[in-house]
Amino acid sequence: MCGIVGYIGYEQAAPLLLSSLEKLEYRGYDSAGVCLNDGENLVVKKAKGQLKVLKELTNDGKTLKGTVGIGHTRWATHGEPSDVNAHPHLSDSERFAVVHNGIIENYIQLKEHLSAKGVAFRSKTDTEVIAQLIEYYYKGNLVDTVIKVLSKLEGSYALGVISKDNPDEIIAVRKESPLIIGLGENENYIASDVTAILAKTRKIYRLENNEIAIIKRDGVKVVDTDKEEIAKEVEIVNWDISAAEKGGYEHFMFKEIMEQPKAIRDTVAPRIKDGRVVLDEIKLTDEQLKGFNKINILACGSAYHVGVVAKYVFEKVLRKPVEVDLASEFRYRDPIIDDKTLTVVISQSGETADTKEAMKEAQRRGSHVISIVNVVGSAIATESDDVIYTWAGPEIAVATTKAYSTQLAVIYLMAIYFGDKLGTISGEDYQMYISELEQLPEKITKILENKENIQYLASQNFNSRDVFFIGRNIDYALSLEGSLKLKEISYIHSEAYAAGELKHGTISLIEQGTLVIALATHEALLGKIISNIEEVQTRGANVIGVACENHPEISNVTQSTIFLPQTCDMLLPSLAVIPLQLFAYYVASLKGCDIDKPRNLAKSVTVE
Ligand code: AGP
Repeated sequence: MCGIVGYIGYEQAAPLLLSSLEKLEYRGYDSAGVCLNDGENLVVKKAKGQLKVLKELTNDGKTLKGTVGIGHTRWATHGEPSDVNAHPHLSDSERFAVVHNGIIENYIQLKEHLSAKGVAFRSKTDTEVIAQLIEYYYKGNLVDTVIKVLSKLEGSYALGVISKDNPDEIIAVRKESPLIIGLGENENYIASDVTAILAKTRKIYRLENNEIAIIKRDGVKVVDTDKEEIAKEVEIVNWDISAAEKGGYEHFMFKEIMEQPKAIRDTVAPRIKDGRVVLDEIKLTDEQLKGFNKINILACGSAYHVGVVAKYVFEKVLRKPVEVDLASEFRYRDPIIDDKTLTVVISQSGETADTKEAMKEAQRRGSHVISIVNVVGSAIATESDDVIYTWAGPEIAVATTKAYSTQLAVIYLMAIYFGDKLGTISGEDYQMYISELEQLPEKITKILENKENIQYLASQNFNSRDVFFIGRNIDYALSLEGSLKLKEISYIHSEAYAAGELKHGTISLIEQGTLVIALATHEALLGKIISNIEEVQTRGANVIGVACENHPEISNVTQSTIFLPQTCDMLLPSLAVIPLQLFAYYVASLKGCDIDKPRNLAKSVTVE
């Protein structure tokens, strides 16, 4: 939800901190700040607004001295976006500074306790409590003090702490919120994720929960809360740096839309060997698999929309009942889950708090969890029983595209793999599915080559006030994603509706000129969706259809139609989602929205 960085070395820290923060802005961008130890004092510069405000304020950090410092880019949870609420936060005497990603759930009680002792607070944030507690308990050893303070905190946190008295160390702590240590030559870093430090080092430690790192220029020591040293394994990050850069595109989102053929190929190809789907990541025996009496899918946002598609796919192919839950709801409904339930958890970041906690709830109830995750080594990936990685590469834009598409690809692989083991698909269908899956990248490329048609449709509709996405069966599942894409980056109100349900109330909202995007790829229900299109047409709607090229009749009932290459029913969402992503992107572009960093959002929602 926020991005934190730190540097200790022999170079001027501030410019390095700011360039690292640029790579983390997608995690939150309502305010930003840095704190340097200039050899005498802790100097804090922070500002409301995106990072560029802070960069202008400090001449890209050149005006700030010091070779040790911490930085932060914020997505506000407690205390509105403002200069004073921006991180880093100083203790009362300005001896300690803290940056924090997460939520301190008991901060009010702690703040009241300290205020009663005469501590003066400057901000409305939960984070400031940590800085004040460190000062309150400090007796000369910062690590001891931090460990003491951790015992008082409830909630989630990734912390960076520096002190005025000791310019030769940074203390970093992780509990639930991600934090890595970048290992350099006579310099070291902390960061919320590897993209922030990839330009400097590929060697990292990934902190686990309740680990404390003592970071000096010449080395890093990691201890537990008993100060027992923990031997950490150095991880080498093999990402291509350009993967986390825009590469000449105007927006990360457009770059990532265009990367989808490659992302799907990279995700699928390693898992098809000699015409067979190979999912060695799954440790289940055939007997265990046959023993499951239902599948439960847990996710949030777009990942949840993948789950809704997966319900249609798994139930059709595996003939097992499938439930799909919003992770934030699942935890609190006392779900009927046991060791006969296979749980599938879907998350791009692998750090979404709602999804992570829902997964733990399913595991507590005895369910085996397979996660589908894009970020290697993330919490959900490491804490699930099996993890199938999507090889989409780093996804920077807040609005997901290539991660969504590769999650769908993994769902198809699982359906084919499990269907074969359960004996619910024929050898002929097995081969057909694999063939169609391997053709997906070039079919998507073909759609992308006609993106100007989508751009034209966007130019005709970017001033819409309300947009409805409708569909039946797997098209309805996809309409959920089309609607979210549009609203999250263009701020246009949009709803996804099961086409057959519209007439039960919501059709009252359809009036002259209302834009309706009708997903009409599911061949078996084409007649039904055509009737639904006519229902809204007669009430004045302007309908854009999305259909397969072998059904030109759709264009008899729509104002315009986007035609897709043919493929089997199961894979249609992977084709139909592309024009929906492009439509949202072009509409948001025409509206001048901040596409990669939409207002109020963050890429990784690591708080509940
Ligand atoms: C999708 O465009 C959104 N950014 C959001 O709904 C996202 O899918 C959701 O927050 C889940 O994130 P995750 O996949 O990292 O768990």
